[in-house]
Amino acid sequence: MTVLSLFDGMSCGQQALLKNNIKPTYFASEIDSYAMNVTRYNFPETIFIGDVRKINIKELPKIDLLIGGSPCQNFSFAGKQKGMVTKENITIESLEHYLELKNKDFEFEGQSYLFWEFVRIYKLLKKRNPQLKFLLENVKMKNEFKSVIDSVLMVDGVLLNSSDFSAQNRERYYWTNIVDLKNVYIEKLDINIRDIVSYGYDDNVKIGHCQLRDTSKKKSICYHIANATDISGNESIKRVYHISKKCPTLTTMQGGHREPKIYLRGNLYRKLNMLEMERIQTVEDDYTKFGMKEDKTIIHISNNQRKKMIGNGWTVDVIAFIFRFLNF
Ligand SMILES: C[S@@+](CC[C@H](N)C(=O)[O-])C[C@H]1O[C@@H](n2cnc3c(N)ncnc32)[C@H](O)[C@@H]1O
Repeated sequence: MTVLSLFDGMSCGQQALLKNNIKPTYFASEIDSYAMNVTRYNFPETIFIGDVRKINIKELPKIDLLIGGSPCQNFSFAGKQKGMVTKENITIESLEHYLELKNKDFEFEGQSYLFWEFVRIYKLLKKRNPQLKFLLENVKMKNEFKSVIDSVLMVDGVLLNSSDFSAQNRERYYWTNIVDLKNVYIEKLDINIRDIVSYGYDDNVKIGHCQLRDTSKKKSICYHIANATDISGNESIKRVYHISKKCPTLTTMQGGHREPKIYLRGNLYRKLNMLEMERIQTVEDDYTKFGMKEDKTIIHISNNQRKKMIGNGWTVDVIAFIFRFLNF
């Protein structure tokens, strides 16, 4: 089986295939060297093909499965919500329109326009292999944006929550022809933060203390903290999560106050450590700890880079669930 993974990140796609005992020939398009180093360390056979915009499918063999989670900032409710536009605010209407703008060297706003690269490659591969399977993932977005993707890929994106598979609330859309996600049975797992905590993992995890006010009505929030700062006095803390609950969505913007904090006891809390973040995304323990450069040197990956790629990545078990329906 041959797979082409666009926006491969730290290759959660490859991890999900492996969980199904599938060891394909795997082509990865990615431009972030840290993510590629982590992938190379864990999956040395990966064939890296660089920038998605420069992929020439004539240089690839027949592809059986195309996967990708295109950059989402311009779709995300947390971002600018500009959608897929040029710097001049021209909305991309279709693949032909995108190719025309690309040919005329228009610059695009943010990175969400790269969805059209997924479409470009999908259409070319599909022509060559009508049996092509695909999976696209993206954030929860306005219907206006989602309906464009639905109609171009001719399948409705289905919202799945990682909470059914892991200790994290993370709602994402999935478009696929591997399985009918609208009608598939998902056995909901009851996994909470307490099931993934790891005490004693040395990451210099900051412990803080603060005044706690219980507002546990909300799904995953246990304590809402009024006017509190952490022990260093320079960070404003808003929420602390009880270990009997699910963690909120890990994002790429993990710095400072956005990092999920878990309640310890009394008025103490701490941030999640790297192992816990990996487990929250159902990534193997220490998967992101080391990288391998092109010249085969093994390197340590910094916590900041690890957090970024984990927040950017897929919940591996959601993808592994979808791949269970692949029959090659
Ligand atoms: C939302 S993340 C996807 C993460 C991935 N699904 C994983 O399993 O880790 C988007 C990725 O697209 C990559 N990217 C951005 N521009 C790209 C380009 N022009 N070509 C290839 N990859 C690109 C980013 O570096 C980032 O890792």
